[in-house]
Amino acid sequence: MNLEVLVQDDAAALAREGARLVTEVAKRAIAARGRFTVALAGGGTPAALYTILADGGAMSWENTLLFFGDERCVAPDNELSNFRMVREALLDRAAVPEWNVYRMAGEDEPAAAAASYTAALKRALGNDLRFDLVILGIGEDGHTASLFPGMPALEVQDLGAIATAVPGYVEPQVHRLTLTFPVLNAAHAVLFLASGAKKAKAVSAALKGENLPAARVRPADGSVTWLLDRDAAAGAA
Ligand code: 6PG
Repeated sequence: MNLEVLVQDDAAALAREGARLVTEVAKRAIAARGRFTVALAGGGTPAALYTILADGGAMSWENTLLFFGDERCVAPDNELSNFRMVREALLDRAAVPEWNVYRMAGEDEPAAAAASYTAALKRALGNDLRFDLVILGIGEDGHTASLFPGMPALEVQDLGAIATAVPGYVEPQVHRLTLTFPVLNAAHAVLFLASGAKKAKAVSAALKGENLPAARVRPADGSVTWLLDRDAAAGAA
């Protein structure tokens, strides 16, 4: 595994550099394999990056397949939905063919939605479930995607996507759909995004390999890039 830590001045610079990195990976993947497959992070940090991608005009959307790293089990127009965040930040602004968007069905019964997403991953990626890029965030507890400390989902090895409850301290208190570690660790490249002082402790612990879900993202045959702003990098002594 190849590990790189990049520190930007602030959240705006992080979004710009993140968009540049994603565009670079996309161009290389399309040149090598004719398409770019990416799993998008949810939450709030990536939104500005997605908008720069959408407005930047450098992405070949007809050759880009968009997946989700995780989703809240709510309707796609719910304000908690990661799909809604991606729709507003990216899909409403860029000419992404709708058949290139693989949405997790947050509105469906969670186990059924996870099973159908696992099947969709296999159909699109093949049995190796290998993404060109997985974009991830990190929570203050060290979770990533919806792989939370102490939850059974951390140990799933035979499914690409799974439904999971969230620990009691987590908001929003809704079930989630999440990619599993076998998928995250099959990726050609992983890009972690972290912004703000609240993330510094978790980022530092993850980089030290402490027992946090984010620290278990270690693609054997891939690269991991941590893209941080100065506040999130403050703890990474
Ligand atoms: C989610 C995300 C989650 C997120 C982290 C960081 O559904 O919330 O997938 O893993 O990436 O919680 O979230 P922020 O970017 O909002 O800090």
